[in-house]
Amino acid sequence: MPRLGVNVDHVATLRQARGGPRPDPVWAALEAEAAGCEGIVCHLREDRRHIQDADLLILRRRIRTSLNLEMACHPEIVRIACRVKPDQATLVPERRRELTTEGGLDLRAGSPRLAAAVHRLTKASIRVSLFLDPDPVQLKLARELGAAMVELHTGAYANARASAPRKRSLARLKEAARAAHSLGLIVAAGHGLDYENVRPVAEIPEVEELNIGFAIVARALEVGWTQAVREMVRLVR
Ligand code: PXP
Repeated sequence: MPRLGVNVDHVATLRQARGGPRPDPVWAALEAEAAGCEGIVCHLREDRRHIQDADLLILRRRIRTSLNLEMACHPEIVRIACRVKPDQATLVPERRRELTTEGGLDLRAGSPRLAAAVHRLTKASIRVSLFLDPDPVQLKLARELGAAMVELHTGAYANARASAPRKRSLARLKEAARAAHSLGLIVAAGHGLDYENVRPVAEIPEVEELNIGFAIVARALEVGWTQAVREMVRLVR
């Protein structure tokens, strides 16, 4: 049964639209915990388009579940992470003009910056997860880099409209989860998951954590934030 990590970035996106204090991602995180989620996720982007440094500090102090900081391996952000000490850091590629994280990391290029980030974060007792496409080559390289965990990118599965490509993407996720687990990696998954497509991914036995943001924020407009989180907790279980 996977844990649900609720991503509160888009609560901050809405706040930033007017520059005031509301809606407050910290409030959303505390309510999500009360509604039964097992972790809170936020992404401190280099351009600070949604989550701000102060949000991260307050989240660290106030949440009682697990804090998963999504981040690029930019030296300034790595420094902040080592100071704030989230329970987990998920390293993602970050492009300035993207709407959201668009793909997994490509470890084949062998980035010294990435290797240094994995090392520094691990030394600071932060569990390091790498966000990867479900590709066996990438998983092996993640193990070699010393990551404890991988998050499988579910975007191809979530975006597939027709049944055949969706089945193929799901099969790829299942295979990758098995391969990662047998390499000794903890397995998470996320991106584009919603109330309709989450169940088959939640049923993959090796997947221990699902990280979901946008769908919950969108559902909250219809049923309220607490109810939207509760519904997702129920589906994930
Ligand atoms: N996991 C990772 C690594 C992400 O970058 C994102 C997007 O911030 C998510 C999960 C959540 O994706 P979504 O908002 O589509 O649920």
